[in-house]
Formats: sequence, structure tokens, C-alpha cells
Amino acid sequence: IDIKSLRTVTGGVITIDPGFKNTGSCTSKITFLDGEKGILRHRGYAIEELTKKASFLEVAFLIIFGELPTKSEFKKFEDDIKSHSLINEEMKNIIDGFPKVAHPMGMLSSLTSALTAFNSNTVDINSKEEMYQAIVKILAKFPVLASWAHRRNDGLPLNYADNSLDYISNLMQLLFRIPTEEYKINPIAVKALDELLILHEDHEQNCSTSTVRIVGSSEAGLFASISAGVSALWGRLHGGANQAVLEMLEQIRKDGGDVEKFINKAKDKNDPFRLMGFGHRVYKNFDPRARIIKNAADELFQDLNLNDPILEIAKHLEEVALKDPYFAERKLYPNVDFYSGIIYRALGVPVEMFTVMFAIGRLPGWIAQWKEMRENKEPIGRPRQLYIGETLRPFKSFEER
Ligand code: ACO
Repeated sequence: IDIKSLRTVTGGVITIDPGFKNTGSCTSKITFLDGEKGILRHRGYAIEELTKKASFLEVAFLIIFGELPTKSEFKKFEDDIKSHSLINEEMKNIIDGFPKVAHPMGMLSSLTSALTAFNSNTVDINSKEEMYQAIVKILAKFPVLASWAHRRNDGLPLNYADNSLDYISNLMQLLFRIPTEEYKINPIAVKALDELLILHEDHEQNCSTSTVRIVGSSEAGLFASISAGVSALWGRLHGGANQAVLEMLEQIRKDGGDVEKFINKAKDKNDPFRLMGFGHRVYKNFDPRARIIKNAADELFQDLNLNDPILEIAKHLEEVALKDPYFAERKLYPNVDFYSGIIYRALGVPVEMFTVMFAIGRLPGWIAQWKEMRENKEPIGRPRQLYIGETLRPFKSFEER
């Protein structure tokens, strides 16, 4: 498609499409999504196959650089990330400035932005090396900062990366290792988290990814663009839904498990309540990620011999909602956030950290989309509007108002 000539042809015509429901902002080679059929592929590989056969970091390499890594490419990538896992000690002064009640997503967004003070923020896009260095730095430091947001609020000492571990095992120890206790990595938990985070790695032009691309289009640096992506992800209609789902399921449990009551509330157009974890802008069929997560939750609970009434409530809610004409007519199915929180909870992740976990999972996608946008030399993102305000008015002094 010759986008430049399209722009010239449309001249003064402006399309109004609130929420960009039918507007494409770019061409992309990263993720293919067919919402009608429930298909998700990264660089041509089916999500179902990637979750079973690859690791989180392998998929990150694929998404960012376009091909699955060879063994030596993967080793170099992993080693380069490990070599950047230290955080400037002065960053701790910034963490100390947060009140204890600060939400970890707010802290993560601020800390990611603060990284720009300690690392060169702008990247020369003509320098492959500069771009690569920025990418491995953010992949290394982001999980450490995420763990600090959690540990600070829990009154735990701030933890450092353990470079003997793979990316996801390291993330687990960053979050949970207590210095006075022996920390044993649970391979079942690592596998479940690895799979869950692969499912979050990229999802084409969603709200946070579009934010990263648009911020980056002004030539703001990678860390500043990612920080903006974290803020966009935070909202309840996007990544924040995973926290909202768990809170909703807890409320249903406390309420005696009456799922019909909540479904009726969601259907009531005079009530702003929505069934959290249901519906999607693009999927008008089952979100393939939700299907995989539901099975992963079942497997994890079986492997760890766990029992959580919340899982049963979620399944019951899904069953009743899917039979309801309101949800069928509007093609509202469970999305990625519906079951993910149940897995995080089983792994011991506190509920206010759920969206942070999503952000860690989405980081490779944000990086890949930012890189593609810069390499394609896309113009600055700058939508138009249709002005519907006052026409020219004479100024009124204070006395006249
Ligand atoms: N509960 C009840 N009704 C819903 C829900 C829901 N969860 N989602 C959509 N609807 C209804 C709307 O009220 C609307 O009904 P109407 O046609 O009678 O007015 C219709 O379905 C279409 O919904 P829209 O809001 O127009 O769809 P949109 O594409 O703009 O929104 C969104 C998608 C934001 C995901 C929405 O479905 C929602 O709010 N879901 C709950 C929050 C959530 O789970 N977000 C996570 C999404 S996945 C992600 O970002 C990682």
C-alpha cells in the first residue's frame, strides 16, 4: 500500500472514528490477529505452538528481531540482558520518595521514565548497536524495577538479579526471594509463568502499544515510550482488567457465589458495571489466549495440588454468561485477563501486582513495535479532529462576564 499517496488523495477529508475502531495506524509484520476466527500468530508462528515449544525470551527475540534465534544468537541475547541487570543505586532515592500506598503500576511507570536520567534516552535509529543496547537494557532492568515496586510496598529489602538463572526464574526470585530463607525455584511455577507471559508478549495495535508507538514517533526515547505504555496499560479497560477480574470474583464469592446477579448487573444499561475480563475490541470469538490460560490454570492447580474456589466461580460465571443472549448477540467472550489473575494468585503474586506482571509480559511487544515504527521511519503520530466548538467570539472583559 502506498500510504503517502493515500494521504495526498484524501487531502482535506478527515475520517472521524472514535476509539479508532476501524482505523489502521500502520502496517506491521509482527502480529497477525483474526478476531472473527480467534487466530493469533507472531511472525507467522501460531500462539498455541509458541506457548508449548518456546520460552518467553525466545519469543521475545522472535517478536523483536523477526526470526526465532539460533542457539548462539539466543545465548548472546540472554548474556547481554544479564550484563545490564544492575540498577543505578541512586534510583533507590526515587523509590524512597513514594508513599507506601503507591500503586506498583504508578511506581513502575515513574521508575521506567526515571531510567532515562541514568541512561541515554534517545537512540540513533541508524545505529543498530545503539538500538540493540537500549533493547537489552530495558529487558534487563524492567523486571528488577517491577520487583522493587512490589518489595518496597511489602517492606522487603530490594532484590537484585541472579544471573545464574533464566529470565523467568530470575523474575520469580526477584519478586519472592527472602534473603534469610533458602529460595528454591519451583519448575512447575516457572513453566506456568513462562507460558502465561508468552501469551501477553504482543497483541498488535492495542491501547498501550499504540501509545508506545505514538510517543516514540516524536523521537522520544525507548524508556520514555515504554513508561507511557505502562500508564496506558494500567486502566481497567485494558491491562488493569486482570486486577479488576480478581476483585470482581472475590466480591461474587463474598456475596455467596451468585453469578447470575453480577451478570444481570452487567446487562443493565443503567448500571456502569461491566463483566470484567469479558469482551474485546478485536476478538468477536473466543480469545485464543483465554482458552490456553484456562487449561494452564487447570494444569497448575492439579500439579501443585491447589484448590481455589475462585477458579470454580470463574468457570461457572463463564458458563452462565456464554449461554446468555446478551453476551452471545454482542459476541462477548472471556479475554486474556479473565483467568490470568487466578494463575498469578496461585503463584503468590499479590493482586495489585497483576497488571505489573502483564507489563513485564508485554514489554517485548512494546519494544518490537517501537523498533518497527522507528525503522520504518514513520511520521509523527498526530490525529486530526472535527472542531464542533464556538465560532469566532469577541473577547469579554471580567466586568462583562
Ligand atoms: N460486560 C457487559 N457488557 C459489555 C462488556 C462487558 N464486559 N463489554 C462490552 N459490553 C457491551 C457494551 O455495553 C456494548 O453494548 P451495546 O451495544 O448495547 O451498547 C457492546 O457490548 C459493545 O461494547 P463496546 O464497549 O462498544 O466495545 P469496545 O470494543 O469499545 O470495548 C472492551 C472493548 C473495552 C474490552 C469492553 O468489552 C470492556 O469494557 N470489557 C471489560 C474490561 C476488560 O475485560 N478489558 C480487558 C480487555 S483485553 C485487554 O485489554 C488486555
